[in-house]
Amino acid sequence: MEDELKLILKQAKEGVSDLRSLSDFDTFKSKFLGPKGILTVTAKGIGKLSPEERPLIGKVVNEVKSEIEGLLAGIHESLETEALAGQLGPEVDPTLPSPFASYGTKHPLTQICEEVTRIFRKLGFSIAKGPEVDTEWYCFDALNTPESHPARDDHDTLFLPENTQMGNVSKKGDERYILRSHTSTVQIRTMLKETPPLRILAPGRAFRRDTVDATHSANFHQFEGLYVDKNVTVKDLKAALDFLFHEIFGKEAKTRLRPSFFPFTSPSFELDFMSPKLGKLSNRWIEIMGCGMVDPEVFKSVGYDPEVWSGYAFGIGQERLAMILYGIDDIRYFYQNDVRFLRQFR
Ligand code: PHE
Repeated sequence: MEDELKLILKQAKEGVSDLRSLSDFDTFKSKFLGPKGILTVTAKGIGKLSPEERPLIGKVVNEVKSEIEGLLAGIHESLETEALAGQLGPEVDPTLPSPFASYGTKHPLTQICEEVTRIFRKLGFSIAKGPEVDTEWYCFDALNTPESHPARDDHDTLFLPENTQMGNVSKKGDERYILRSHTSTVQIRTMLKETPPLRILAPGRAFRRDTVDATHSANFHQFEGLYVDKNVTVKDLKAALDFLFHEIFGKEAKTRLRPSFFPFTSPSFELDFMSPKLGKLSNRWIEIMGCGMVDPEVFKSVGYDPEVWSGYAFGIGQERLAMILYGIDDIRYFYQNDVRFLRQFR
């Protein structure tokens, strides 16, 4: 049988140079590899061989098959080029590059997302996700945000109609669905699913009832970060964020923490940074993100013992970071799909 196979290969090698058209090619291909082709039929003979011979001959069949496939692929390409040239006539050379060739570019938000993800992966963070439609419990209650907090107002958060059903988004009781107003929901969803220690970065979309202008959009993106372990301190938070800003803006970048307030962190901070290489924005403090140490109430709401576990969390606006990094002065450019804008981010 091995000899038969070698002969088939020899025939294929000889025959391939006689092919002149794509229809010749099809006939030739099915003669060897089709369901009734000679290789297919011969290979069926393996069943009759002794168990010792089968793997050896099986191997030869595979080698012959892939060699024939290689031959066919090569000839197919040149026959196709010829066929195209035939259709176009002699004055067109189809091998020349197209004058209209244009390459796509990655959207600046995709670029910033990939960059920040890469940086946090270096610190051992994995990527987490959560739904964009979520519930009040995940967005507020579990994050220690009281019923009376202004963010929970209809003027700030987008609520779905009372009777909305979202089978795939778990819900506690009869609370309403909302479009999440921040990615901090992913902190809760991750902690409920996993056991500490954990480190996650959750890039994602968030929604607020903002009137659109140069710096506001009802639909924007954030990076949520969460680190839970034993004995985590503000030093760990500062070190991770320093690393982020050094990686993005270079070693000269400086950061500072300023006291602030979020219901789900305590203490809470705003992080400002400064860089000498930012054009008009150089060498002045720029407010960039919120962060802090995970509030013990948040740990309680996911069933983690706050006496044992500690952690930090942060939230960065992706658009804000991209606008500063690339010098973009209007947030609306991100969503207009104007190629004159997009082409600038190669
Ligand atoms: N969720 C906050 C916001 O959207 C940011 C934040 C995240 C602050 C995590 C502290 C900790 O403004």
